[in-house]
Amino acid sequence: MSREAVERKIIQSELHNIVLADLTIGVFFATVDRMPSGDASDAGPKGPATQVRETTDPSGDLSFGSPTPADGSELWNLAREAGNLDVNSRYAYLLWCRDFADTSVVARGPRGDIAGFITGYRRPDAPDVYFVWQVAVAPGHRRRGLARHMLDRAVHRMCSNGVRFVETTVTPDNKASMRLFESFAEANGADLTRDVLFSERELGAGHEPEVLHRIGPIEGPARVLDGVLPD
Ligand SMILES: CC(C)(COP(=O)(O)OP(=O)(O)OC[C@H]1O[C@@H](n2cnc3c(N)ncnc32)[C@H](O)[C@@H]1OP(=O)(O)O)[C@@H](O)C(=O)NCCC(=O)NCCS
Repeated sequence: MSREAVERKIIQSELHNIVLADLTIGVFFATVDRMPSGDASDAGPKGPATQVRETTDPSGDLSFGSPTPADGSELWNLAREAGNLDVNSRYAYLLWCRDFADTSVVARGPRGDIAGFITGYRRPDAPDVYFVWQVAVAPGHRRRGLARHMLDRAVHRMCSNGVRFVETTVTPDNKASMRLFESFAEANGADLTRDVLFSERELGAGHEPEVLHRIGPIEGPARVLDGVLPD
């Protein structure tokens, strides 16, 4: 090969490399365009580990997810408005929303207002038991199956993590709550037993007894209302 031919070959090869490098940079920037911004602040997009999965109910006007500490004050307000609940401090709801978010459910209206919530936890010394601490539905959303729907979602999620029993306490005067848990037990073909857990002796004079409702065993994932996808 002549010297000229060798030089031509080298130039062609370098041009080829430059084109390849351009293409690679193009692909890199195209990929960067599709990547999330990586903003780890509260205002930024949530990563997979912290993501609150939001789902929508069939009627489309409420969405369901886990609470965040930003919801704590609203949960506290709803607990105060709901009636029939032992209202804890605002701080307790904030902490709950931070530490027990995965075992709790909130229903949000179209403007982000909270229509209802369920707070619950897996009992530390009985991990197959999901204890429902409080359920509340805003007065304007009652008698439409919202509490049942939230309970179904919460238990469905817990059953896929090994839970087989649901416990809660209800005061004997709370017909709505009693019916909620009866209806849940019936739908899941599970037994429901009742026994006083705490009486006036522990709760103080004038407090109705807290009757433990224990439901189970629940075989397989709990029934999900109206074909709604589980979390
Ligand atoms: C109890 C409460 C959460 C129920 O919420 P809800 O969304 O209205 O309940 P649902 O529509 O899902 O109804 C669930 C079942 O209870 C029944 N129910 C609801 N309210 C009722 C009432 N006031 N009286 C009798 N039954 C009632 C429903 O008919 C349904 O039974 P079904 O499946 O046989 O039809 C709501 O009334 C509330 O927030 N109350 C104040 C707070 C409270 O008492 N919480 C529970 C103690 S932790």
